[in-house]
Amino acid sequence: MRVAVIGAGYVGLVAAGCLSHSGHDVVCIEKDARKMALLKAGRVPFFEEGLEELVLFGLKRGLLQFDGQMEACQDREIIMIAVGTPARPDGRIDLSQIYAVMDEIVFRARFPQTIVMKSTVPPGFGVNAKERYLERARVPLSYLSNPEFLREGSAVRDWYHPDRIVIGGDDETAISRLARLYAGIDAPIVTMDVSSAEMVKYAANAFLATKISFINEIASLCELVGADILPVSRAVGMDRRIGDQFLQAGLGYGGSCFPKDTCGLDFVSTCNGHAFNLLKAVIEVNKRQRLLAVRRLRHVLGRLHGKTIGVLGLAFKPGTDDVRESPSLEIINLLLDEGADVRAYDPLAMENARRALPDGVFFAPGVMEAVTDCHALLVATAWPEFSTLDWAAVRPVMHPPYLVMDGRNCLAAEELRQKGFLYWGIGRPYPVQGETRNPLIKTGQIFPLRQ
Ligand code: UDX
Repeated sequence: MRVAVIGAGYVGLVAAGCLSHSGHDVVCIEKDARKMALLKAGRVPFFEEGLEELVLFGLKRGLLQFDGQMEACQDREIIMIAVGTPARPDGRIDLSQIYAVMDEIVFRARFPQTIVMKSTVPPGFGVNAKERYLERARVPLSYLSNPEFLREGSAVRDWYHPDRIVIGGDDETAISRLARLYAGIDAPIVTMDVSSAEMVKYAANAFLATKISFINEIASLCELVGADILPVSRAVGMDRRIGDQFLQAGLGYGGSCFPKDTCGLDFVSTCNGHAFNLLKAVIEVNKRQRLLAVRRLRHVLGRLHGKTIGVLGLAFKPGTDDVRESPSLEIINLLLDEGADVRAYDPLAMENARRALPDGVFFAPGVMEAVTDCHALLVATAWPEFSTLDWAAVRPVMHPPYLVMDGRNCLAAEELRQKGFLYWGIGRPYPVQGETRNPLIKTGQIFPLRQ
């Protein structure tokens, strides 16, 4: 089939690469000239496992092209929209890029085409868009909502092995056309109306975020009563009704989706006169998890001014170079505010972090340079490089109290304690001898931090 994908971000580029690999004739339209130049040369502007190979393969077979102009979608049966829908400070979604491409599509349409919305848009958008745009077109255009559930770091695998394909729309011909595009992918296709499909995306992300905040609350309680979150979450997750995923306590969720979509759904709720209090709490807990790390560092080290803290991990999760809404970036900003010296390291995300952080952070070329001279380390991303680090070599280059704050519970706690570190995980027993409970929580002082 002849497909146009508008937007060469994570979703658009993965869709374009995978569809061309499956034999479809794909043009990917991107207005950013820098990105376009890289893509035409077969280079992907961000790290995503396996994607560059797919792009190169598509370019070589002539099934994938890149174009900077919207004209390129004029002769395509299917037009997928995968442009950014960033959040505004109040949580409202900025739909300006969507409006701009919808305008162009409608203006250029010369034969019946199917518009497939892959970008995350607020529930109700599609119904509105149909009235606002499609009715103006000179030819009949169909509109389908087809939300994407790809995870960064495993997006290519997720494309070929989704749990389900959700299609929202009322045009049966268009739905079967889109279903044909996915022929070969072994997953149930669930059809519904447009608004419901839009809601599925928000509900799924909000639910996963809820699991994370829930387990983080249980982790805080574990510290209060002297329990350990690791066996607790493992055993809770063994209940198949609950499932073992998204139950890892830590610094909370980051990335381009969960923070934006939880706030976006909260905004939609408020606009519709509904107070989604559960979701508000999920968002609040996630904010607190980041502040918790700073509070703990201050508790052990005293004033942070003049202390050196190594932050290991800048990406919002392992397997990606993406630092959007990454907890470690926010924590580093707080540490700098308090006068700490920060040494930062990430195996993949250094460049992106450098652009996002203010001056004053020392970006270490390797993990050993990052830990050198530190009073405390904060592991903020669960990269395997940190769990397999030669910790025996780390202690001699650090200063007392040799604090290791394991913000992702990914290190071997006992081993680190034996090697002379003051190990403290999230929801794990308090590290000071004779104390099993976290005194910060006990005194009720853990939140809020000073602004
Ligand atoms: C997410 C959704 O999983 C995906 O379906 C959607 O399309 C986009 O948003 P992604 O942002 O790539 O994908 O990351 P994901 O692997 O879901 O993790 C999100 C965040 O939650 C990360 O910061 C991760 O560290 C955190 N997380 C995840 C936890 O803190 N605990 C967990 O148990 C799982």
